[in-house]
Amino acid sequence: FFAGETTFVKGVVAMSGLPPADRAEICFAGRSNVGKSSLINALTGRKGLARASNTPGRTQEINFFERDDLYIVDLPGYGFANAPVAVVEKWQRLLKSYLSGRQTLRRAFMLIDSRHGVKPVDEEIMSLLDKSAVPFQVVLTKDDKIKEKDRDPMLAQVRKALSKHPAAFPELIATSSEKGLGLPTLRSTIHGLRD
Ligand code: GTP
Ligand code: MG
Repeated sequence: FFAGETTFVKGVVAMSGLPPADRAEICFAGRSNVGKSSLINALTGRKGLARASNTPGRTQEINFFERDDLYIVDLPGYGFANAPVAVVEKWQRLLKSYLSGRQTLRRAFMLIDSRHGVKPVDEEIMSLLDKSAVPFQVVLTKDDKIKEKDRDPMLAQVRKALSKHPAAFPELIATSSEKGLGLPTLRSTIHGLRD
């Protein structure tokens, strides 16, 4: 993808801290541990750029990265997190405010773990995106972990869930940050979303 380097801009803990909405922006949303930060690192080819870890709830701020005049946003996960309830509630509120109130957000990439499919918490976020008219596209993660026989039923479950959401793009992008699968497709999709 694009010509430049990816740089870290800032970590945001309140809506008032968001950088000016002066350029196109995309974000990665999904349940805790689905692989958001790992995917950003794999896409940009910079291993330690977004902090990834085995502990659900690793990313606790809205992290802004910049590349070729595009903001790439790593969000905290939703669902289970290994952190105190009050803290989790605070960042969940922030996450929802961001997803429903960011003018320049071109598309939200909704990450879904290939082994788990769409869960009720995912549906809740998808409904929020519908309501806010933020277009979203599902990116399946950890493709290297799925058993071949589970693939078709999982795809059917995801497609069925998406059919209920008007803001959803029908195309799914299957990825593995570990194996590099699907990254060129996702890069070119993101590339096309710049100003
Ligand atoms: P939070 O910030 O806690 O919401 O998590 P996250 O969605 O950013 O997940 P993160 O990238 O931190 O990855 C969670 C775990 O999944 C880590 O142990 C990663 O190594 C692992 N992981 C991420 N992507 C892949 C993948 O494509 N394949 C495999 N096998 N593991 C992956
Ligand atoms: Mg993360």
